[in-house]
Amino acid sequence: MSIRIGIIGCGGIAGQHARGYATCPDVEIVACADISLQRAQQFAAEFNVPRVYSDYRTMLAHEKLDAVSVCTPNYAHCEPTVAALEAGLHVLCEKPMAMSVAEAERMVGAAQRSKKMLTIGHHFRFVPFIRFIKQRIDEGLLGDIYFGRSHALRRRGVPGWGEFHIREKSGGGALIDIGVHALDCIVWLMGSPQPVTVTGKTFTMFGNRKSFFSAWGDYKREDFDVEDFATGFVRFSNGATLSLAASWAAHIAENEDFTQLILGDRGGVVVRPFGEGAGVRIQSARDEALLDVIPSGFPEKHPHIEEIQHWVACLRGEAEVLVKPEECLNVQRIIEGIYRSSELGREVRVEELSPPQQEVRAARQEQSSSAKKKSRSANRRR
Ligand SMILES: NC(=O)c1ccc[n+]([C@@H]2O[C@H](COP(=O)([O-])OP(=O)(O)OC[C@H]3O[C@@H](n4cnc5c(N)ncnc54)[C@H](O)[C@@H]3O)[C@@H](O)[C@H]2O)c1
Repeated sequence: MSIRIGIIGCGGIAGQHARGYATCPDVEIVACADISLQRAQQFAAEFNVPRVYSDYRTMLAHEKLDAVSVCTPNYAHCEPTVAALEAGLHVLCEKPMAMSVAEAERMVGAAQRSKKMLTIGHHFRFVPFIRFIKQRIDEGLLGDIYFGRSHALRRRGVPGWGEFHIREKSGGGALIDIGVHALDCIVWLMGSPQPVTVTGKTFTMFGNRKSFFSAWGDYKREDFDVEDFATGFVRFSNGATLSLAASWAAHIAENEDFTQLILGDRGGVVVRPFGEGAGVRIQSARDEALLDVIPSGFPEKHPHIEEIQHWVACLRGEAEVLVKPEECLNVQRIIEGIYRSSELGREVRVEELSPPQQEVRAARQEQSSSAKKKSRSANRRR
């Protein structure tokens, strides 16, 4: 029997989902919904979708669906996901899982109550050499893993479409947008240890400057109220540690650097998910020799398409979801931990990440008025 899919949010990434579903036999996108009916109609015309809606709730009520792809901006991940799960559908929601730990917890809770599948669009996990190295690491290649270093750095890459630069719509900047991919990948490769404490600091150095040139399209500088650089340090319950940095804009040497480094007592790996130098490299030592291994010959596969094909296999009951919502909730905890730590100026325990308390609200107010003053005087200087 054919699998009936609905798409919620018909922008850029929804196209990748549609192209992925199109490669799967007996899968139909039967309806799509977007708050912009025009976008939904364009999407429907491009991907042969029979019915369009301007409200996903109407689509959920009127259509007989098996699953939905939630491809809306970050602020609209939690509500449609929870509504679809409660309507008895399986959900593939785009990254980041949510805007906050509280939202991510609601999504995990809804999946557990409904007993429906929930997964998040972390396509790095579907890159063939990353799946290869994951298996080798799980077999013990690195021994006792004690350190990870995660980079998700762009030199000039603030998204110039959508509302990625507006905190209310995105939940944050570079960290929640691209750091989340790298974090999901490295924490999974490290064996999904439980984060215990997080410390971090975020910076808004370029994105709100009138003179700043971004190679990824234009946006209103005065609306930019998120970080363009974040750094953090995480301690896990198994004793392992992780340091990370994420940027949309920074004076780095490369256009992009998404290098992930993992160290264990038997070996280390460097993973570059895409771009120049993409692949994995394994380092170890034997007697007096240093050993470097570069596995090669991997098939060229499109990770977004692989992700959808895997999702369809899950829907058919032929596979188990690879990107587990509980793992993504932990990544959300790390991200929120970094934001919270930056606001408070101290390390935070993951267990204290509940809805913001008085201390956080006060720190936020103070920071936002001093950031506005700084940006006004920086723009006056330019
Ligand atoms: N996995 C990846 O590689 C990847 C790549 C790009 C974007 N994304 C994620 O996908 C999401 C969407 O990004 P995009 O680049 O496609 O954005 P986009 O702006 O191109 O598309 C979003 C669409 O959602 C619609 N929308 C907004 N609110 C809605 C609502 N409440 N109900 C229905 N539709 C609504 C908008 O009108 C728009 O058409 C983001 O969360 C982003 O982080 C993931």
